[in-house]
Amino acid sequence: MHWLERPDWAPGEIDLERPSVARVYDYYLGGSHNFAVDRQLAQRAIRLMPDLPLIMQANRAFLRRAVRFLLAAGVRQFLDIGSGIPTVGNVHEIVHASDPDAPVVYVDSDPVAVAHSRAILEGNRSATVVQCDLRDPRALFGDPALRAALDLSQPVGVLMIAVLHFVPDSDDPAGVVGRLYDEIAPGSYLALTHATADGDQANARAVGELYAQSPSPLVLRSRAEVSALFKGFSPIDPGIVFLPVWRPESERDSHAHEAERFSGYAGVGLRT
Ligand SMILES: C[S@@+](CC[C@H](N)C(=O)[O-])C[C@H]1O[C@@H](n2cnc3c(N)ncnc32)[C@H](O)[C@@H]1O
Repeated sequence: MHWLERPDWAPGEIDLERPSVARVYDYYLGGSHNFAVDRQLAQRAIRLMPDLPLIMQANRAFLRRAVRFLLAAGVRQFLDIGSGIPTVGNVHEIVHASDPDAPVVYVDSDPVAVAHSRAILEGNRSATVVQCDLRDPRALFGDPALRAALDLSQPVGVLMIAVLHFVPDSDDPAGVVGRLYDEIAPGSYLALTHATADGDQANARAVGELYAQSPSPLVLRSRAEVSALFKGFSPIDPGIVFLPVWRPESERDSHAHEAERFSGYAGVGLRT
């Protein structure tokens, strides 16, 4: 693995002294788009919670299962909000393996995530990236590139994977999802994952305290609080469960006897 310091493509506004949750997450997944300040935060977090890389892999594995579920349900357009720095198994790769023409729109507020997404999507007519803060749904759904790519009168698969835990209660995450609900057509789905301290309490809280010193504090929410984010959506079986337990591909993948170790909830809801 090689790590980049001030790569040519990195947008000028990046502050190399401040960690970014997009780049920290890239480090957990073994990626190369992170800087020393990101690696320091990630390594301190991993010391507190050695399972973190495993949890992030379980998060990505849920993303893959959820996209395949949505494809099987007939969804043919996707909106991935808080999409992150592209890594192995991106949404457009999964979707286009099944339907090369199905539009995929990535959204992130992080300049590195957006720049790298732009670079890998160059020349791809079915996938695009929009730089936007999800806390401003009006700006997001008014974005010309999003509106050109998606037909909002038709069902859309919305993904909010490992992002809403960066939205504090003061920014009303349930209200943000509620406004999103109003923008999407019946038959759409919302798939999300969210960090929690319901399982591995002491370690998850310690990681939460560490992130509290970063520019993007982590809000750990209980199962009831995560369920409340799905207000108006009908839960898809098996409901809101620890990451590996949502429709695992095999018994072994479900980690059924130790699922709470994964400190993250996953769920999919249908917009009726
Ligand atoms: C932990 S990463 C998850 C990436 C990807 N969804 C996944 O699960 O593999 C969280 C991403 O959410 C983005 N993010 C955080 N707050 C955001 C906001 N308010 N608006 C848009 N993106 C945001 C971060 O920049 C980061 O890329």
